[in-house]
Amino acid sequence: TVLLTLGPTRDPWDAVRYLSNSSSGLMGACLAVSAWMRGAVVKVVCGPNAFDLPPGIETHPVTTARQMSEAAADLWPGADIGCCTAAVCDFRPVPPRGVEAGQKLKRRSLAGDLPVISLEENPDVLKGLGLSKRSDQTLIGFAAETGDLLGQARLKLDEKRLDLVVANRVDLPGSGFDSPTNSVTVLDRNGRSEQWPELPKPEVAWRIWDLLRHL
Ligand code: C5P
Repeated sequence: TVLLTLGPTRDPWDAVRYLSNSSSGLMGACLAVSAWMRGAVVKVVCGPNAFDLPPGIETHPVTTARQMSEAAADLWPGADIGCCTAAVCDFRPVPPRGVEAGQKLKRRSLAGDLPVISLEENPDVLKGLGLSKRSDQTLIGFAAETGDLLGQARLKLDEKRLDLVVANRVDLPGSGFDSPTNSVTVLDRNGRSEQWPELPKPEVAWRIWDLLRHL
């Protein structure tokens, strides 16, 4: 049984505006479908995305990071493998003064002032799964980075108690968010690493599942 998180999260600050990111959910959708084709029971907790996953895959659509965290934590005890590809917003906006629950902020009501939006921390979904991981469970994370790719990926492997981390640069063409291809380096808990060329995301997904045999 594989538990996957995918897509962005979306945290609103009034009835029509929100904080999110440009994750399409494609990498997660490829992992979900390929795990399912290889015979796994697949459960997906997904933020807003445009994919129709096959009916054989159990999907739990969510919107906010806190909803994703709750849904993933509920499903985790029943999973053998967890794989978090979701681009969870680390921070959520606090509705500015004057915005009542369920209402849209009206420009007119500001009387020339700009709204001030502060942020508060969202849960780290993957870290939560890592902290409650049993010895018979395997956990995979992604590290979307600019700059020091491997250093950051190693830190995440340790901090989030992962068995495998898939690191990709999000500041290069042909890799990362909203791209049909990905260039990744994979690092496992035993210190093994492999750098793969730019590949279509379905191929990256297939290779990730292959790697689990070596863990
Ligand atoms: O955002 P960051 O680079 O730390 O993401 C690394 C991994 O952690 C990804 O697998 C992502 O899905 C997960 N993550 C999460 N909840 C967060 C932030 C990241 O599950 N709040």
